[in-house]
Amino acid sequence: MKKWNVAAIRAAKGKTKLGCCTAYDACFARLADEAGVPVLLVGDSMGNNTLGYSNTLPVRMEETLSAVAAVSRGAKNALVVADLPFGSYQCGDDLAMANAVRCLKEAGADAVKLEGGEEYASLIRRMTSAGIPVLGHVGMMPQSVNAYGGFKVQGKTPDAAEKIVRDARAVEEAGAFAVTLECVPHALASKLTKDLSIVTIGIGAGPDCDAQWLVMHDLLGLNDNVPKFAKKYASIADNVRAAFSCYVQEVSDGIFPPKSDS
Ligand code: KIV
Repeated sequence: MKKWNVAAIRAAKGKTKLGCCTAYDACFARLADEAGVPVLLVGDSMGNNTLGYSNTLPVRMEETLSAVAAVSRGAKNALVVADLPFGSYQCGDDLAMANAVRCLKEAGADAVKLEGGEEYASLIRRMTSAGIPVLGHVGMMPQSVNAYGGFKVQGKTPDAAEKIVRDARAVEEAGAFAVTLECVPHALASKLTKDLSIVTIGIGAGPDCDAQWLVMHDLLGLNDNVPKFAKKYASIADNVRAAFSCYVQEVSDGIFPPKSDS
């Protein structure tokens, strides 16, 4: 298998649909990579999935860098994308540039992702001009949960749909190699996928996108409850609970470790 790069992701548009997912540590990154997942996103969803926060907002740059470095060590062929956490790119473009550079230079990411459309186009342009591949993210942007007043499907009214179209175009024109479409009406995602030259990666955006995201903890069934649009391909949580409880029982019953002469 060859290492995925942004040129190969771009070239897949219209040819191969890509099943991509998040990863937050070296162990699961290695397993996903060995299974052929082309893109591993070190999502700020690590906030909910591994760090125990109630949403993505508290995730710190240092936590992102540590997770990106672990995923980069675990993945040989997947493209590793660092999701810039809340506050790391909203407080000025120089700080945003410095943080994006750290993701590639210190943590080994291949690209960065950031949430935002028209308003972030000049920053995306600056990053791509500096050789930092950028994956955009429009539609429902979880870092704006407080502005929305909850996690809500975006783009339902004609004006809101038009804003998402403008955002996606701005991200494309700024040089992003792909754009995440999160929780947007399926017809809108379908139209954007046809109209844009860059790869669309949907999550809760229907089947017509060029690629899909799933959060790894949803995909593997590590989370008991998953969003309606997600699919559990395994029920790991049940196996993990059963293994822990069997271990505790065997130690308490004197079964493990077994008696032996040495
Ligand atoms: O952090 C995340 O999990 C995301 C999704 C779009 C996959 O941004």
